[in-house]
Parts: sequence; structure tokens; C-alpha cells
Amino acid sequence: MKTYIGIDVGTSALKLLLVRADGKILASRSETYPVLYPQNGWSEQNPADWLAALKRGMPELLKGQDARSVGGLSFGGQMHGLVVLDKDDNVIRPCILWNDGRTEEQTEYLNTTVGKDVLSRRTANIAFAGFTAPKLLWLKEHEPDNFAKIKRVCLPKDYLVYMLTGTHSTDYSDASGTLLLDVRHKRWSSEMLDLCGIDISQLPRLYESYEPVGPLKPEYVKLWGLCENTAVAAGAGDNAASAIGTGAAEHGDTTISLGTSGTVFIAQDTFGVDSKNALHSFCHANGKYHLMGCILSAAACNSWWMNILNSTDFIGEQAETEELLGKNSVYFLPYLTGERSPHNDVNARGAFIGMSPMTTRKAMTLAVLEGVAFALRDCVEVAKSNGIDIRKTRVCGGGAKSELWCKILANVLGVSIERLAVEHGASYGAAILAMVADGAYKDVSNAVTALVHTNGTINPSPDLTRAYQLKYAAFRAIYPALKDVYKIL
Ligand code: XUL
Repeated sequence: MKTYIGIDVGTSALKLLLVRADGKILASRSETYPVLYPQNGWSEQNPADWLAALKRGMPELLKGQDARSVGGLSFGGQMHGLVVLDKDDNVIRPCILWNDGRTEEQTEYLNTTVGKDVLSRRTANIAFAGFTAPKLLWLKEHEPDNFAKIKRVCLPKDYLVYMLTGTHSTDYSDASGTLLLDVRHKRWSSEMLDLCGIDISQLPRLYESYEPVGPLKPEYVKLWGLCENTAVAAGAGDNAASAIGTGAAEHGDTTISLGTSGTVFIAQDTFGVDSKNALHSFCHANGKYHLMGCILSAAACNSWWMNILNSTDFIGEQAETEELLGKNSVYFLPYLTGERSPHNDVNARGAFIGMSPMTTRKAMTLAVLEGVAFALRDCVEVAKSNGIDIRKTRVCGGGAKSELWCKILANVLGVSIERLAVEHGASYGAAILAMVADGAYKDVSNAVTALVHTNGTINPSPDLTRAYQLKYAAFRAIYPALKDVYKIL
């Protein structure tokens, strides 16, 4: 049976997965790389690190496997990152990541001077600091020499696809997060390109996520012992790829990601825009659309807190906190790198509040998990205000491994959480896209039905949901009280 490789170009690591066409996972591999923080609020990565991670990871993934049975590969990638290449395909400067907050001025200019209505009409979205268009404006203003050298603009996963195939491609789901795409009509917005001083020839060609973009370069076929006709599918933004990998492909299907960022992803059959643009309106990897709320720090908060505790025992730190559920008087605002949905505030930062002399380490650990769940509830409330009623969801990302966190989420959101039989999110979704590109399945929907299964549900309990309802009301009051303080900080 043929096999497929799904690759998730994450923020903390590149995750590779080898999957058989019937969904059996044959091998997985994770290769880490650093995030660079050159200034407070900035975050960058070297594209060369992603390529090196891929070159390290592929031979390990394929060790002891039949590389010639690989029918295709594809990518899910961290979204919005600005990778710029010069005429010789050299990376001009490090990639500015999705959680970088340097573009406050450019974002403000786009949202107020150009205007949210105009942006929403052109792209279906407003500007957020991490989006690609404000970064292009920043580069033009602050690094004009670098801006002048740009031959190609790439998103992170598309840089790797370009290196592997020589095709400068992107897919609609990832392109949606640039603020350069007319999402409704699935074409680059000429007005937005003019505004950013970019020519269409500098942008990648647009594909559906499950379309093949071109053969692998012979050097990689040889390096990894693959077949010459190995399909490379365009791939998707990591959230759309995760949605496919967790089975959120039909209208209203929801998936929540607890990765470095946290997202609430709601699949939609037809194009639609949140009335306040607090949710993103993007294309999906199945050829349709989705709405999405994104909080910038989810599992990143827990990793940060574990570092502070100088502990690596995630499970141990979370043990024996059950009796505190719904009763914790400590609150945590998870805005370590500012916040996207719904506050759109680059100055926001993390905060603990409510400690007393009786506060324990466990209470603070729990507050971190609860704070992330409350912030995701903020996104769910926006969806509700658009008439979207979420009753059940799937959860993916590193945080999904915590049964406790899933239980907290179920009760804070008042929704059932379906546990997945295979929880590999974006890399599994990317492998599914490669299968469709290679013709192993007729379309994404068929593939998802055959390959994504659940094995249990966590239901919210009425008492705990009620307790968290009160806690959420308190959580909601904290950010408005701190908003002006953040400006001074
Ligand atoms: C989505 C977003 C993040 C990144 C993380 O809009 O910015 O989820 O894609 O990888």
C-alpha cells in the first residue's frame, strides 16, 4: 500500500509523519529549532533552520521504511510569516513570524486610515499585527534596502515547497492570512498589492491545498530514495491542515488547537464574514471556507509557566488539581505576546491576579490552563454573536494531550469534546492532502470520512459549567481594566 508524508512547519518544531493510505501511522519525527526574539514583542525564525530540520528529519522518518512506496508529501505551516527572497533565491532577512508585534503603526494605519470597511471589502479581513501585509509595509519603511531586493514573497511552508520543487506556490488557506488575498473570489487583491508596493509577479501562484504543485527536484528524490513522480501537494496553513487532520471538513464542524497559539476553527460551506471582523474569514483546505479566532499564546503559556517552575513534569504539575476546578480564585491573562482575537492588542501581556497568602503552585498552574480556556471562550462568544452555536468540538495540538485541559475546556465552553483516535493535527492533515493530490481519495471529504475517527467524548458537567460561567464573567472584566495600563507598560 502507498504511504504519504505530512510535514507540519510549526513554531517550535518541524513535525514529520509517515502515514499509510489507510491511515495507519508508520513513523513520526520532530525536529526542533529556535524562535529568535531580537526585541521585546518581535519574533523571528531563520528559514534555513526549517530546511535543515527537514533534511535531518526525512532520513530519520524513512529509516527502515520503503521510501519507494511514498506516493506524495505535503505541508501544513505556521501562517502569516513573511519570508522574502532575492533574485538568487537567498533569504533576505529572517522570517517575521505570526506572533510578532512590531507592526502596531502599520496595523493602525491599515485599520484606521485605509479603514476596516475597505480592508474587509477587499480581503474579508481587517489588519492584525501578525498578518503579512502590515509586515510588508513595515519592511518598506524600516528596511527599504531589503524591501527593494524582494524577488519573491513566501509563507513559511511555501518556502520549503519552493526549495523542494522550484515552484513558487501557495494555497488559498494560507494566502488568506496575508491580507493580500480577496478571500471571497480567491484571487490576489490588486488594490492591496498596490497599497503594499508589491507586484503580482513577486507573489506565489495560488492553488487549492490538495492540488499537486510540481515534482520534487531530482536532488531530493535521490537524497531520500523516493520515486521520481512523488506528488507534492500545495498544503495548507497549519490551522486548516489541522482541521482536515481532525475531521473538521463539513459545515459547522469545529476544531480547537492548543498549540503555541490557540485557535477556534469553524468550517463553513460558504463564504461569510464576522460582522466585527474579530474572527478571521479564510479559505479552507477542502476548497471551501472557515471562520477562525486565534489567541497568540495557548500551550505556549503552559510551556512558559513550566519553565518558570523549572519543571518538565507536565502531568505531575497538573495532578491533584481536580478538586480546585471551578473554585480557583487565581486568574491568568494569557497574553504573553499580545493578543489577536478578539482584542487585537499588541501591547497586552500576561498577568496573574487574585493571589493570596494561601495560593499554591497548583492553583497557579491551573489558572494558566483556565486562562487559556477563557480566552478561547472569548472567541466562541464572538462566533455566538454571529449565530454560530458550537455544541461539540475536537481538540488538537500539544495541549490536547492533557485530559485535564480538555475537561477544563469542555466546561468553560460548555461543549462536548470528541477525543481523536489519531491526534497528529496538522501533519496528519497534510498527509491527507498529499493522498488526495495523488488520487488515493476522490476528494478531501471522502478522505476525512475514511481516515479520521474519534474514540470517546468528554461532556461538560452542569455544575462545573455553571461555576465556570461565573469565573468567566470575572475573567472578562480583567482585560478592560488593564488595557490602559498595558499602554504605559
Ligand atoms: C493563525 C495563527 C497561528 C499560526 C500558528 O492565524 O497565526 O495559529 O498559524 O502556527
